[in-house]
Amino acid sequence: MKGIVLAGGSGTRLGPLTVSTSKQLLPVYDKPMIYYPLSALMLAGIRQVEIITTPRDEADFRKLLGDGSQLGMKLSYVVQTAPRGIADAFILCRDFIGDSPVTLILGDNLFYGHGLSELLHQSVSGSIAGATIFSYHVNNPRRYGVVSVDKSGRATALVEKPQMPKSNLAVTGLYVYDNTVVDRVRVLSPSARNELEITDLNKLYLQDGSLRVVPLGRGVAWLDTGTAQSLLEASEFVRSLQRRQGLQIACIEEIAYRQGWIGSADLDRAAKSFESCDYGKYLDRLPRVSE
Ligand code: DAU
Repeated sequence: MKGIVLAGGSGTRLGPLTVSTSKQLLPVYDKPMIYYPLSALMLAGIRQVEIITTPRDEADFRKLLGDGSQLGMKLSYVVQTAPRGIADAFILCRDFIGDSPVTLILGDNLFYGHGLSELLHQSVSGSIAGATIFSYHVNNPRRYGVVSVDKSGRATALVEKPQMPKSNLAVTGLYVYDNTVVDRVRVLSPSARNELEITDLNKLYLQDGSLRVVPLGRGVAWLDTGTAQSLLEASEFVRSLQRRQGLQIACIEEIAYRQGWIGSADLDRAAKSFESCDYGKYLDRLPRVSE
């Protein structure tokens, strides 16, 4: 399974914060935003990840995350020259995907909750056929892609940002596809806002009965960070949980260590490089398993 983090776009809804930097590099409390979606892919067990960025921001992402070897991962980068839509990811990453299945996560989506690692892991393991999307009950579905389901939970309709939503189930920014995605994306045409819509791609799977909808329950938090308000709420969420529990959310070195992708010496190195902040002290305190 390959992974993609979509971290391009113009971030105009966050101006002037995004005039000179990428939205996905802005802080969510004590870490750059991209740590959160990247950690979701890591928790799912995905080690090979391509990051989609912009011509302006590519160097900054490379500086932050490098080639991923410090995490026992393989990270690569591809530039999207203009925001041509979320589904454009599968055109840009065609070579990277090769003949694998692929999981896409939006660079401004944050998932957290009980049982999530297990759920993610299950969703990307084994032989992948069709597409899997994750639904989440929200108060304001108009802002999102919305899915309707029948009594047995099967998708019956998908609509992007409907005026009159038929359900409260938003489609979250995490998508798992079989390899047919690279062919399916070719038949899409740009929408009225001139983007290749992820919802149109998912509709192709819906039409041939191969779209699976996995509901994320009440015990899971799904936050998006696309506006100043939601960005602050996400920071507050991370701060309260971390302060209460003394455990970090989206500490990528910790996840890599727990996955067995790096050893104690790598953890020590990371702790040293951040020694003057709480993040480094946390890494330093983490119990090491004997190797
Ligand atoms: O957050 C979930 C929602 O994400 C879904 O419910 C919707 O179905 C889906 O269309 C999307 O809606 P948004 O309006 O939030 O998408 P937005 O255009 O804000 O793009 C999401 C992220 O992807 C954002 O961080 C920027 C990045 N992006 C977007 C586009 C269109 C790119 O990197 N390149 C792009 O071309």
